[in-house]
Amino acid sequence: MKIDVILGLQWGDEGKGKIVDVLSPAYDVIARFQGGPNAGHTLEFNNIKHVLHNIPSGIFRENTLNIIGNGVVLDPVIFKKEVDKLAGMGVDITRNLVISRKAHLILPSHRILDAASEKAKGQGKIGSTLKGIGPTYMDKTGRNGLRVGDIETGFQDKYKALKEKHKNLLKIYDFEYNIEEAETDWFEGIETLKKFKFIDSEHVVNNFLKEGKKILAEGAQGTMLDIDFGSYPFVTSSNTICAGVCTGLGNPPSSIGEVLGIFKAYCTRVGSGPFPTELLDETGENLRNLGHEFGSTTGRPRRCGWIDLVALKYSIMLNGVTQLIMTKADVLDTFDTIRVATAYQCGDKIFTDFPYEIDDNTKPIYTDLPGWKTDLTSIREQKQFPEALKKYILFLEKELGVPVTYVSVGPDRVQIINTK
Ligand code: GDP
Ligand code: IMO
Ligand code: MG
Repeated sequence: MKIDVILGLQWGDEGKGKIVDVLSPAYDVIARFQGGPNAGHTLEFNNIKHVLHNIPSGIFRENTLNIIGNGVVLDPVIFKKEVDKLAGMGVDITRNLVISRKAHLILPSHRILDAASEKAKGQGKIGSTLKGIGPTYMDKTGRNGLRVGDIETGFQDKYKALKEKHKNLLKIYDFEYNIEEAETDWFEGIETLKKFKFIDSEHVVNNFLKEGKKILAEGAQGTMLDIDFGSYPFVTSSNTICAGVCTGLGNPPSSIGEVLGIFKAYCTRVGSGPFPTELLDETGENLRNLGHEFGSTTGRPRRCGWIDLVALKYSIMLNGVTQLIMTKADVLDTFDTIRVATAYQCGDKIFTDFPYEIDDNTKPIYTDLPGWKTDLTSIREQKQFPEALKKYILFLEKELGVPVTYVSVGPDRVQIINTK
């Protein structure tokens, strides 16, 4: 059996949570492999909206096991809040969530370091979600980190040593902080973590594959935020691309099956960094209002713009995408014309391949397609698609060279059309 992968092809928030929830009945296991509570994955069903940060999006399916893999960074405080909230709704997740011993813990002092570093950057800030992601991955690669498995042995001493290191680091910043204030919640979160089964996820995942179990790996963030291939330094601190599945779960590359790449019918980005198709005008404002484009984790307004095929082609190449899933098609329902960026112009140079650097001088070259001017939200079958939507999808498939197999037309679980 192979591991299928679902991941974002743009700058995050493509609708991964919804799609994982829709597809999860076909899988035995849903596994997060990177990122942490910087993610905000939204699921909607029975008129209730759930936003998950640390917890995989298969959690509402009783027969699905959810794994937090070794590549994830986990904040016990946020984790406890999520567990308690779900328990309040009658969902006991201690039975269908297991956690890798090798996942790294986000300490209160990691969050403080994140905030201090962003403040020191001033105008040049990354626009981090301030969840401590960067500092925690820095400790991981710097070989200082604290892991979930450490909770089982010598935890207090290891915690204190890392906190002291962070206090020394914080001396370089002009930043006021109080670590102790956050520690009570943090240690309560550790107690909540102890209620879950800790696993050696690499063994568990590989055994599942041998047993023929179906696994879906759930990406967080998006390809354009990847630490290696995103618009560095305005990126997150993990490999968000398909290769991150193997390092984040411990499965061999040969075990990767279908790679499902999700994109919005337009584009959004939260935080700083280049965004060639960004619309700073009324059209951008319309997209933000129609698409409710406000961050699921931080509530910040998302920057909005037209779809960018130069970036999408790059993402498809990096991930080896085998199927495309288009979300939020309904947000474009009222537009007369839909613009699609097919190249960039920078000075007298034209790029169709994603260049080393994009900046404010990189201008998109557009192809205009007619809008469908139809309400898509109650459509459930492909044969009901308006002609202009069919043409939009055909145009994208031809340019991108990969079939679109699902189209999402609203936030609810049922608002999805299989176009295979
Ligand atoms: P994720 O981080 O990729 O899981 O995406 P987010 O949950 O951060 O953001 C996607 C937002 O769009 C959420 O509010 C979803 O409920 C919503 N959403 C998902 N798919 C659709 C869709 O097809 N149409 C509309 N209108 N909203 C959608
Ligand atoms: P999901 O999984 C959108 C962005 C932040 C910032 C940059 C670095 O919901 O798609 P970090 O906190 O990682 O140091 O922030 O990355 N970012 C996201 N943007 N969706 C996300 O996750 C994001 N996670 C991080 O806004 O620009
Ligand atoms: Mg999100």
